[in-house]
Amino acid sequence: MAASALREIERLRKELRRHERLYYVLDRPEISDAEYDALMRTLQSLEQAHPDLVTPDSPTQRVGGKPREGFVKVRHSSAMLSLDNALNDGELREFDHRVNELLRGAPYQYVAELKLDGLSMAAHYEDGQFRLAVTRGDGLTGEDVTENARTIRSLPLRVKPAFPRFEVRGEVMMTRRAFHRLNEERQLLGLPLYANPRNSAAGSLRILDPSITAARQLEFHTYFVLVDGAPAYPSHWQSLEALDSMGFKVNPNRALVQNVEELREFCRKWEERRDSLPYEIDGIVAKVDSVGQQQALGWTAKAPRWAIAFKFPARQAETTLEGIEVQVGRTGALTPVARLRPVIVSGVTVANATLHNEDEIRRLDLHIGDRVVLERSGDVIPKILRVASPGPRDIPFEMPDRCPVCQSEVVRAEGEAARRCLNTNCPARLKESVRHFAARGVMEIDGMGDALVEQLVNAGIVKNVADLYSLNLATLTGLQRMGEKSASKILANIEASKNRPLARVLTGLGIPFVGERTASFLADAFGDLDAIAQAGADTLKGVEEVGPKVAESIQRFFHEPNNRQLIERLRRAGLQFTGTVNRAQAGPLKGMTFVLTGTLPNLTREEAKTRIEAAGGKVAGSVSRKTSFVVAGQEAGSKLDKARELGIAVLDERQLLDMAGAPEAGNAPNLST
Ligand code: IVH
Repeated sequence: MAASALREIERLRKELRRHERLYYVLDRPEISDAEYDALMRTLQSLEQAHPDLVTPDSPTQRVGGKPREGFVKVRHSSAMLSLDNALNDGELREFDHRVNELLRGAPYQYVAELKLDGLSMAAHYEDGQFRLAVTRGDGLTGEDVTENARTIRSLPLRVKPAFPRFEVRGEVMMTRRAFHRLNEERQLLGLPLYANPRNSAAGSLRILDPSITAARQLEFHTYFVLVDGAPAYPSHWQSLEALDSMGFKVNPNRALVQNVEELREFCRKWEERRDSLPYEIDGIVAKVDSVGQQQALGWTAKAPRWAIAFKFPARQAETTLEGIEVQVGRTGALTPVARLRPVIVSGVTVANATLHNEDEIRRLDLHIGDRVVLERSGDVIPKILRVASPGPRDIPFEMPDRCPVCQSEVVRAEGEAARRCLNTNCPARLKESVRHFAARGVMEIDGMGDALVEQLVNAGIVKNVADLYSLNLATLTGLQRMGEKSASKILANIEASKNRPLARVLTGLGIPFVGERTASFLADAFGDLDAIAQAGADTLKGVEEVGPKVAESIQRFFHEPNNRQLIERLRRAGLQFTGTVNRAQAGPLKGMTFVLTGTLPNLTREEAKTRIEAAGGKVAGSVSRKTSFVVAGQEAGSKLDKARELGIAVLDERQLLDMAGAPEAGNAPNLST
């Protein structure tokens, strides 16, 4: 028993590591998040049953750490210094000129990299196992953040080591998407917001409870590999390639450049393209490639003489605050939005900026008519940084006591930053709820755009999301700009939405704090909407990622008579209130796609296919990046070549059968070999 459990545990770990690498390092996922979560849960339950088989490098151990009292200080193997800056082309040329002089005319080249806007960290490995992570700190001593770093999925816990002991250094950062999500969540909870992805990455890495870090979706991009504090390879480019092949994430946007002209070109290109990246960069880093030359150039007290940071100009501008408008969101939260005299900030016209909540307005001491400094960073909504010069200041801004849309009273609950309109029928809230319900990733009702929602709510046709299911051709064609053809398309899309699985329905209800992820955990755990509605707080808290606050919110939602009525109407409309788990899809090969080629020693094609499908896998006819494994027998043809070309693992029959596990009694081909 223990031997087969160990085999299964190791297989799952290998599979999870492969998917972690595909997703977090190579940005090339092959399975959905839900499939990944299911694999992880299988491994977790096996490890729970066999605690003696748990190893620190198991993928389950990323999230296991306990909160601690404080961080321990650790001395770096060699100083983690900073970089000198070049703020313009002239300063970049000056730097190159100095390098040229100090190298006395010897030829040299630079490695150009993005300057990732995060915080630097060192990670130490022994015998291929991740052992220790330390923040930069003051450069000489940092803080031990091992348990938190373990939760970063792009930091491999195990690698094929090129050296018995080595250290990698790189940047911990957060994508803009993760940053927005985090701030949205914090706003809902009334917590102070992070100013930018960099601060939130720093805050998330230095949190005492690793389970919080785990939820923050940090990334680790490496750029140095050191042995005993010194570069492990004779050239920097080689180090990057070595890191890449060991399985670390290395930012792909890098180049080996021959001279300062090419370097300037690289800087120009990325200054233009920075908005297309999913994370923030604040410049370009150029490093002399040869480590021998780096040593010859040496260091000042602060920074190396062989590297420079070319900083992009700040994307700030000054303009006048012309007004503050208050918007009402889906949960009723009132959000002040700054209306600005339009101003161009690095090529983009900015006329609005979010102000988050009234505390933010007070903190900035904002008054209509003030001149303000605003900053645009990537696709982050422009932000007012400070007042540049105060305006007349005769009218202080006050948040309204009544909802600006439905005029009902608003309240600011204790400990919350936002005032809320509590009227569940408020048209502003209603429009946002319908948009949310019909959105991508939720009920996906194509064609249910802003203009249509606006009309449906304004005309009083839709008073809650259940009304969508009572729409008919006559009502829709009665609306502006709605022909019969588009109307029937929309009706068909509404009809199709009835097939969305329980998790989507649950997300669509818009229960505060229940987003896509939590909804799918709930759907998996209960498999039935009524069971969720009736669950006690303790049962709810037993579900992954559901804490007291979320549990309370779920209970409050299902307690509310209006919501109950809504649910009954949705039930009658025929939405999916139960989630059936397809047994075959839950097998050990769940989420994997196989391609068969050649003649297998024992199984016919058909038998192999049956075995794969019985274990939850899929069989495809041709090899692509989506293929998980190619199963090859005698005289395998071009599919095998294609698999090798794409780096897809090739299995023989025996390996396939091992992975598929024990077949159901009765349909097993007899394998005596
Ligand atoms: S090299 C001594 N490379 O920028 C070498 N740093 O201003 C210093 N950074 O502390 C690090 N992207 O946090 C290097 N590709 C990159 C970088 C990078 C971002 C950060 C790093 C460093 C700071 C220096």
